[in-house]
Amino acid sequence: MHVDELTENAITRRLTRVREITSRLIEGLTDDQMRAAPREFVSPPVWDIGHIAAYEELWVWCALGGGDPQYPEFQAAYDAIATPRAVRTAIEILGPREAQEYLHETRERTQQVMYGMRAASCDPRLSANGFVFDLVAAHEAQHAETMLQELVLAGIVRADLAVRAADAQWGSPPVGPARIAISGGEITMGACGEEFSYDCERPCHAVVLEDYVIARDPVSCGEWHAFLAAGGYERQALWSPAGWQWRCEEQIAHPAYWHRDGDGEWWVRYLGGACPIIDDAPVCNVSYFEAEAYAAWVGGRLPTEGEWEWAARGSVADDANLGLRFDGPIAVDALSATSAVGARAMLGDVWEWTASTFTAYPGFVAYPYAEYSQVFFDRGYQVLRGGSWATQTHVATTTFRNWDLPERRHIFSGVRVAWDAAESA
Ligand code: AVJ
Ligand code: FE
Repeated sequence: MHVDELTENAITRRLTRVREITSRLIEGLTDDQMRAAPREFVSPPVWDIGHIAAYEELWVWCALGGGDPQYPEFQAAYDAIATPRAVRTAIEILGPREAQEYLHETRERTQQVMYGMRAASCDPRLSANGFVFDLVAAHEAQHAETMLQELVLAGIVRADLAVRAADAQWGSPPVGPARIAISGGEITMGACGEEFSYDCERPCHAVVLEDYVIARDPVSCGEWHAFLAAGGYERQALWSPAGWQWRCEEQIAHPAYWHRDGDGEWWVRYLGGACPIIDDAPVCNVSYFEAEAYAAWVGGRLPTEGEWEWAARGSVADDANLGLRFDGPIAVDALSATSAVGARAMLGDVWEWTASTFTAYPGFVAYPYAEYSQVFFDRGYQVLRGGSWATQTHVATTTFRNWDLPERRHIFSGVRVAWDAAESA
């Protein structure tokens, strides 16, 4: 046995749950939908499926269990670095049915390794606390969210996955001020514990924060309306030079997936199709550039990663809008949990852009492979924190670091504003 029984049970539950979501997402997709990538910066879902299998096979069956890959001829095709997104529709890969079979067969071999029917690798860190099993579960969970982004971007509508705002329990306890003042000082950021974390979250280390102020809630659609009405998209002074250039070139005038009907009514589209905008729900599908402009409009800025993480501590994933619980962002009032300082929806609803670029923490060591995070350091990626309505619960921790390019907004990204203490009187 490579892991103890408790760990094995927890891992089995997690792997099974993640797989249920993966299967549900591709359920009913036509072969064409599986093979199509709506834009050059996303993959066709059929690639994600084969890649999820190849990744699980590589780390569990091959690295831990010492086995050989089922499709050596496709290894490069399913390597995310060797085969960048732009070429994934052009190369030869497994078809929808074969990819799903590969996924299924790989899971059977994963179980063989887990139950100790294969010799262990000589790297004890791969099996300690079930590390590689958590790794593949987190990886699949991340790709499930990626596939969701692909489906929405492709305009695919899944009526069975419509936003269920009405299911939320309304009426939360009294809340604190809309802007939370936080005293600076030395804080610890990053992952310190025994639980699974990615290499880029480690090591935990001290950083010094100035006094700052952070918004209790992410920016809502209603607030975004006000920004729109105030000409936020036309006022160059609010935008960074790069942001303004992007906004002009792409003719950006509202969040992705917002549209206005003939009566002037605004609609938003998530996976379940278009619905009238919920004013109290966090705005979603905005770029870093838009986030910066909004923050400037309210006299603030985006929080740094350290500021975000400090304000988020104590947030509980089980109480958050994560894991397709409502299939879209919902009013923050509907969820009563807060972080230790009283901030709401730090976890879930929408990823929050931070002011920090994706860089290594001091003392970083790539593990188990450099292509997860190291190759993305210092390449112009902005860090996002907190997870979205589509992020699975076990992935969304207060130390998890996501990253993307500043112009991307097919990810489920929103905004939380921060202020220097002196600016927010
Ligand atoms: C952390 C979401 C930026 O999709 O590039 C998936 C996650 N890494 N497979 C990505 C990931 C390897 C990663 N993000
Ligand atoms: Fe991947």
